[in-house]
Amino acid sequence: MAQIKISNLSDLTIQNNDNNKTVLAIVQENYIDWMHACGAKGRCTTCKFVVKNGMEHLSARTEPEINYANLNRLAANERLACQVKVDGGDIEIEIPASSKLPHMDYSY
Ligand code: FES
Repeated sequence: MAQIKISNLSDLTIQNNDNNKTVLAIVQENYIDWMHACGAKGRCTTCKFVVKNGMEHLSARTEPEINYANLNRLAANERLACQVKVDGGDIEIEIPASSKLPHMDYSY
């Protein structure tokens, strides 16, 4: 079973045992509010996160992610939560300032 640690949610760690679910689906199943303005359609970048550890455990970039990367709207260490899936390994991620929700209590 893999773990997803969200460093700026006070190292909140959730479990993932389904390689076919997106990170967005996993965090929502764990009742964590996550910005996703386009409804998980890959048409915005509000769901993005920064990968701190475990990049090798993430699925390949999808077409929307490649397009946003080419437009410099997605850095090399950033992924879209609604697009990316995690294999069996652990990852550590961070929510960037642009994707923080006003009602959430982030640790930094
Ligand atoms: S929710 Fe819009 S790209 Fe992920």
